[in-house]
Amino acid sequence: MVDMDKIVSLCKRRGFIFQSSEIYGGLGSAWDYGPLGVEFKNNVKRLWWRDNVHLRDDMVGLDAAITMHPKVWEASGHLASFSDPFTGCADCGRHYRADQIIDAIWNSRWFRAFNKMLEGPAAKKDIQKAVENWIQGEGKKPQGTFVNFDNVLQSMRKKLPFGIAQIGKSFRNEITPGNFTFRTREFEQMEIEFFVVPGTDEEWHQRWIDERFVWYEKYGIRKENIRLREHEKDELAHYAKRCVDIEYLFPMGWSELEGIANRTDYDLKQHSQYSGKALEYFDEETKQKLVPYVIEPAAGADRSALAFLVDAYHEEEVRGEKRVVLKLHRDLAPVKIAVLPLLKKNDRIVETAKKRCADLRKRWYAVYDDTASIGRLYRRQDEVGTPFCVTVDVQTVGDDKSPADEKFTIRDRDTMEQVRVSMASLESIMDELMAGKWAEVAQVHGIKKD
Ligand code: GAP
Repeated sequence: MVDMDKIVSLCKRRGFIFQSSEIYGGLGSAWDYGPLGVEFKNNVKRLWWRDNVHLRDDMVGLDAAITMHPKVWEASGHLASFSDPFTGCADCGRHYRADQIIDAIWNSRWFRAFNKMLEGPAAKKDIQKAVENWIQGEGKKPQGTFVNFDNVLQSMRKKLPFGIAQIGKSFRNEITPGNFTFRTREFEQMEIEFFVVPGTDEEWHQRWIDERFVWYEKYGIRKENIRLREHEKDELAHYAKRCVDIEYLFPMGWSELEGIANRTDYDLKQHSQYSGKALEYFDEETKQKLVPYVIEPAAGADRSALAFLVDAYHEEEVRGEKRVVLKLHRDLAPVKIAVLPLLKKNDRIVETAKKRCADLRKRWYAVYDDTASIGRLYRRQDEVGTPFCVTVDVQTVGDDKSPADEKFTIRDRDTMEQVRVSMASLESIMDELMAGKWAEVAQVHGIKKD
């Protein structure tokens, strides 16, 4: 297992993740996603959304505001569970007065500046509640979904069972943030609230546990590095009937990647009571109203991205030299294709390479790079997980070859094998490669010998 320092160092060196405010000495536990990091994390979120929303007919999306009516937090139980003024730190065993934490944040320079932007008593009250929510620890996603349950039901004419998905920022006043992006105060969550008929909740809960587990394997997490952990009764959140974590073997040990909880009808009932608006579902079959149960698969976008990175990291020896390669799933890789000219002083090679890169870019995120020798360019792309490199050489352009006669070399990141293909078939072959068919393409076109 790779140690975290290597991941942190690669992320900085290759433009994935930088420490926040680094030129001022850095800010503890805050991280900025760099040019490749933002592509990568966007891919994690896009795939989650595609698989959980677009590819299902029982799911829809939502993007609710962070600032909500103060009563939302009363109803959710966060304010009540906050009556205990002490917050224990599971890691160091110390206890903190929760009201002191609020005061510290309220009086912090950052928060005063934030507050100034939104002057006026009403705004301040809203922000205060948002901050209380942040401190008490649940972020925005689920409550925004529950308070919109009826809006979604009516506008989308959904029938049970159906779910609502959200992706967005969450805030937690973590006492012991750390382990790179694993635990931070600001992060992103990808959450589903799946509404089911009471009585079918246990079966649906198990279905979601299985589906979410398989999702990580589908995008490359190795079987031996992922497991399920059942919550003990005394760990269950105030709203949960059962909760199962998907855990990943991070460099610091087995830790939570995603939590999947059966929240019962707690939230909808609470919001019905506090808002005075019945949040119910009319069952056409039984002609009766019911309050749905909720299954909540809640994943962290940053934590998932970190797990994919850790799992993809490989060091290999190639011809006596160390090769660092991120064997990221093609769909997760920040850059899909790098177009590399073999001779940067040859104008025709450079021009052809740039032209073909521009063509490929219309379909896949492709980059052109001529800033080093071909060996170094390959290593650089291996290190950031680019699945395919297309090289342009003297034979590609010939003396007076027309584009139709151009032939390109495609190199596969994992096997380092190369095939030579014509300009006319470049795009259709890329389609096959992006579908994971390197072996088939190599068989048809033959492996190129150096
Ligand atoms: N609504 C339920 C909920 O928020 P959670 O288990 O506290 O549940 C869900 O959080 C997921 O969000 C976690 O499994 C983890 O992936 C991510 N997460 C939680 N706290 C985090 C933190 N401080 N930093 C990064 N990710 C975090």
